[in-house]
Amino acid sequence: MKIIIINGPNLNLLGKREPEIYGSQDFETYMNQLRLQLDGIELDYFQSNVEGELVDKIQEVGFSYDGIILNAAAYTHTSVAISDSIAAINSPVIEVHISNIYSREKFRHKSIISANCVGMISGLGLEGYLLAITYFINKDGIK
Ligand code: DQA
Repeated sequence: MKIIIINGPNLNLLGKREPEIYGSQDFETYMNQLRLQLDGIELDYFQSNVEGELVDKIQEVGFSYDGIILNAAAYTHTSVAISDSIAAINSPVIEVHISNIYSREKFRHKSIISANCVGMISGLGLEGYLLAITYFINKDGIK
């Protein structure tokens, strides 16, 4: 089973960035913990601050991976290009947000990618990524 986590802009700063909102753990450490917990699953990770690079990665993995976990970060609220790329591929995408976007500023309440995703997890911290992986595992069984 092949799963990829794709993180958008500013998520490379996790651990340093607004820790009161996003927590104090950096993502590389979290990824190492995840990989230790997940036997038999190929778990890849990609992060970019550049919209087109996120579209390129979604296209690249979107016809062969069993699941994509996407935190498009600020592009969640703005990117028609990312939303279209999710609609264009075959792999199921789960949208994840570390914070609860509905309890924050109004401009974060609207996600233009949700409609093209299987589902969305928001506000459960980094745990949201593991919950999304668990969904993919339980859905298909380990291949
Ligand atoms: C975020 C929420 C977005 O509104 C914000 O722009 C981010 C992170 C989250 O994980 O909570 O960068 O996607």
